[in-house]
Amino acid sequence: MTLRISNLGKHYGEAPVFENVTLDVQSGEFVAIVGESGVGKSTLLNCMAGLDSWDQGTVTHDGTDIGALDGEACALWRRKHVGFVFQAFHVLPHLDVAQNVSLPLMLLGQKKDDGRVAHMLDAVGLPGMGARLPQTLSGGQLQRVAIARALVHRPALLLADEPTGNLDPTTAAKVMELLIGQTREHGASLVLVTHSESAAARADRLLHLTAAGIRA
Ligand SMILES: Nc1ncnc2c1ncn2[C@@H]1O[C@H](COP(=O)(O)OP(=O)(O)OP(=O)(O)O)[C@@H](O)[C@H]1O
Ligand SMILES: [Mg+2]
Repeated sequence: MTLRISNLGKHYGEAPVFENVTLDVQSGEFVAIVGESGVGKSTLLNCMAGLDSWDQGTVTHDGTDIGALDGEACALWRRKHVGFVFQAFHVLPHLDVAQNVSLPLMLLGQKKDDGRVAHMLDAVGLPGMGARLPQTLSGGQLQRVAIARALVHRPALLLADEPTGNLDPTTAAKVMELLIGQTREHGASLVLVTHSESAAARADRLLHLTAAGIRA
């Protein structure tokens, strides 16, 4: 399972967001991406998940050409293979915490697995909080719900946008262990966008995104 990004370029009108982004991420590999605010890190992660379009280049995952999929096929691919921790969490407000975390399993048509959901909530330090509504949680707690949701179906491609941005150092370290565990033990490919030096220091490779491309 290799994520392969080749010569990717994206523009808004005349203005390029990024160009010439070439990057391979192997199964079991953890790549961290840093870069200034507004340089296109979230946009690049969205492209990796087929959640945004691009103007040049290709994104393939395990041989699947993501840009060639239509909307529905892309949604099905994403459902099966991708875990995404969004910068703004996108925890659904009308579902409780346990329902949010079990969403990927539900979409995959898997049997309700309360044990697995409870295990994930324990793992992110939210034991017993499954029945709470998102509006009753702190920012860091919401972020951890988003992380549990991204991991619950053991995705092969794990894309995390500032997943420790709202967490204290101890909780952040715990969450990093979880993301890295999915990578090392289950052979996921982890791409993590971060401003955290300690999170980036754990990566196999640290890459800098600039308007001109991506480099070590
Ligand atoms: N729909 C849009 N139309 C025009 N420009 C956009 C649009 N969406 C995003 N941009 C611009 O694209 C650039 C990249 O945004 P992106 O969110 O990817 O940056 P980022 O590197 O994730 O920043 P941050 O570190 O602040 O999260 C920004 O300059 C943003 O203003
Ligand atoms: Mg961003």
